[in-house]
Amino acid sequence: MATIDPETIHDVEGIGVHNIHRHDVVIVGAGLAGLRAAVEASEEYDVAVISKVFPTRSHSGGAQGGIAASLSNEEEDHLEWHMFDTVKGSDYLGDQDAIEILVKEAPVVVREFEHFGAPFSRTPEGRIAQRKFGGHTKDFGRGGPVLRACYAADRTGHVLLHTLYEVCIRNGVRFYPEFYALSLIIRDNICRGIVGWDVINGGIHVFHAKAVMFGTGGYGRVYKITSNALSGTGDGLSLVLRAGLPLEDMEFVQFHPTGLYQQGILVSEAARGEGGYIINDTGERFMERYAPEKMELAPRDLVSRSEQTEINEGRGIGGKDYVHLDLRHLGSEKIMKQLPQIHELAWKFLHVDCIKEPIPIQPTAHYSMGGIPVDKDCQVFADGKKEMVQGFYAAGECACVSVHGANRLGTNSLLEASLFGRRAGKAIRRFLGVQREFPDLPPDAASSAIEEVERLLSSSGTERVSSIRETLQEKMSLECGIFREADQLQRLKKELRTLEERFRNIKIDDRSKRFNVDLLEALELGHMLDFTEIIVEGALNRKESRGAHYRTDFPKRNDGDWLKHTLAWKKDGEIIFDYKPVVITRFQPKERTY
Ligand code: FUM
Repeated sequence: MATIDPETIHDVEGIGVHNIHRHDVVIVGAGLAGLRAAVEASEEYDVAVISKVFPTRSHSGGAQGGIAASLSNEEEDHLEWHMFDTVKGSDYLGDQDAIEILVKEAPVVVREFEHFGAPFSRTPEGRIAQRKFGGHTKDFGRGGPVLRACYAADRTGHVLLHTLYEVCIRNGVRFYPEFYALSLIIRDNICRGIVGWDVINGGIHVFHAKAVMFGTGGYGRVYKITSNALSGTGDGLSLVLRAGLPLEDMEFVQFHPTGLYQQGILVSEAARGEGGYIINDTGERFMERYAPEKMELAPRDLVSRSEQTEINEGRGIGGKDYVHLDLRHLGSEKIMKQLPQIHELAWKFLHVDCIKEPIPIQPTAHYSMGGIPVDKDCQVFADGKKEMVQGFYAAGECACVSVHGANRLGTNSLLEASLFGRRAGKAIRRFLGVQREFPDLPPDAASSAIEEVERLLSSSGTERVSSIRETLQEKMSLECGIFREADQLQRLKKELRTLEERFRNIKIDDRSKRFNVDLLEALELGHMLDFTEIIVEGALNRKESRGAHYRTDFPKRNDGDWLKHTLAWKKDGEIIFDYKPVVITRFQPKERTY
């Protein structure tokens, strides 16, 4: 159970909340981005991490296959190759100055993990082992797949998360597990802290800080089939919107090609990196028709689209909405050594022994390429372009720096989260070297959060949160999934307005304060409804196909009109759009084939 150290509690007159904690740095989210920033900042400063789940249950722990770095441990590789693959994988929407940082600092970040004690798998010579992953190639795409993903069997995210948690404990980072962030305190473009809810004991808490960092993760839970943990409800994005700040490129949602059928649970791309096949009802390795050179190791947007096409055209297994991932030819020794978790998941959830049988799989909502616009040091933009919010940082899946553009390559997410988390921590240290005082806490710091909780706890309408959430997930999957078109998106836009109306008429049965799951689910649904509209309208506006955003009515990429990032705000319930240019330094946009 979370315990509150009375030493961190300060009385500040006029706020109307007794629990006011003061820390130099407050980080929301205990995934790789948040913990890597905490490790860095806690070298010098008092750091608190607030997390809605216990830290080591954060969703980064679900990432399986690896973390990309051009180490050349197993074969020749180059930073430039990694950069080219990431730019091409992004369908030329990634900002190349940020991508250059990503690939250059990757080897440093991975070696630091090694020094922290992360138990990577090893080559026979004792180096960190590396495997193939989709879209990572040799020689600027001219060669085959390259061994670039550093891994720990198929539990890479899990071991990296635990490693960072241990370092945080050693550094004296103060954790507030099972605290739910309710609002940001930003006035005059200065971030002054956040307001949170103590899930276990109930009660509003104010966290007063000189710097705040968000590592709040993605929002896969707006879809019915997703690889995301239950916690992936995009809360941080909504808090940013409510603070009057924009979001970037929200229309780009990644579908991972291999989710366990009907569960969505991730079956790592490592399975294909190790040689697995994807086959349709006739036993055909159909990727030969869609990506003859890279086959199953083409990037995710292409593999998921191909899979969905096979299913839509009746070539799913038995005509159903799934295909097969076949690992049988890898043999039991390789499966149990390199892919033990996949074996376990397929068995536990589908009763399939993948040594003897193929695994039923389907595309699953996996990753959000867009998010909170930040600069290369992870400081949040107030206007999405130039003006900054003082003392506010974001990294990892909730942020858009943008290294993934329109489509992320596998293993670049653990990399981005830890690398930009580290950069955020360093930037915060530099900032605190100058900003020595706590900014003032305004008297109404907690008022919107208090009002929200009181309103939800007293709601006595007729609608159920679970029913609204299920409709949202179903409609998003049907109408804003892998394939999109104007009619569907227009219809969905109207349906979202109806869901918002229904949300204003909810009923909450549990009015208690302690561990009130009804309240939490209502808070999460409110957040999801806030930013989902931006995904849908952004998708409707973008009249082209690029990366993971595929418009059947505009099937071609259109660089003339759309080689630009989307920015979106919500003002008085309406969405306002603006755009900003993509940073192109080295690789000019070209046709993207695999
Ligand atoms: O397939 C996977 O192991 C997932 C990795 C990632 O999303 O980077």
